[in-house]
Amino acid sequence: MMLILELYPISKRYVAFGKGVTYLFDMYLNLIKEGFKNKETISDARFDQIFDQRLRRVSSVHWTPVEVVLSILELLNLDEDSKVLDVGSGAGKFCLVGALNSPASFFGVEQRQSLVKMANQLAADFCLKNASFIYGNAVQMDWSDFDVIYLFNPFYENIMDEGLRIDLDVKVSQDKYKKYIKETINKLSELRVGTRVVTYYGFGQGLPDHFKLVTSIPSGASQIELWIKN
Ligand SMILES: C[S@@+](CC[C@H](N)C(=O)[O-])C[C@H]1O[C@@H](n2cnc3c(N)ncnc32)[C@H](O)[C@@H]1O
Repeated sequence: MMLILELYPISKRYVAFGKGVTYLFDMYLNLIKEGFKNKETISDARFDQIFDQRLRRVSSVHWTPVEVVLSILELLNLDEDSKVLDVGSGAGKFCLVGALNSPASFFGVEQRQSLVKMANQLAADFCLKNASFIYGNAVQMDWSDFDVIYLFNPFYENIMDEGLRIDLDVKVSQDKYKKYIKETINKLSELRVGTRVVTYYGFGQGLPDHFKLVTSIPSGASQIELWIKN
């Protein structure tokens, strides 16, 4: 069974095979869910089967690896009252893996509407009540209500080689990169004392002075950093 599911282009379920494959897809989501519950190792290749081929192709560059999400959850020790904001949630991987492995509420904000729609659909398919996604510009929303802010180098696509980008649907520029980083600094300065910020590959600049580095764990070619606002 597992072999068939691993080989099959699961995310093409509706187009190619209709209801029969939808059923297979639901079973696949359940296997992932149960796998996490049973503390099995869920590889990125396995988890990413929930995405279509186009999103799988960019996963290693743009979406947080499962293992990194799990390490972050271990650092944060969240409870059901915790609210986490993923700035630039992409395909929703960080929030979905987070919500499958923690009682906290995960919110993603993303500038690509198609990704928001897909991520919300996946949250519903997983029957998750603690993951939701909104469409918008992250630097224009209020971050002050969250206990944790997650930044996986969200604006880097603005200065990336074209071939590495998620798609060419969003206009990018050096100016936008600089502007979003500056606005992020302002947002971070407005956060409540005690708010925690987790960065993975940073966000293009150091955190403001009133943040204290709690811990830094090497991960891939970079590190996961946990900061707290003083
Ligand atoms: C590196 S990906 C991270 C995706 C997700 N956080 C994860 O870890 O799986 C960065 C995402 O941020 C989004 N993004 C960049 N600038 C944004 C902005 N100003 N507002 C909302 N989303 C933004 C991009 O479209 C992209 O999907």
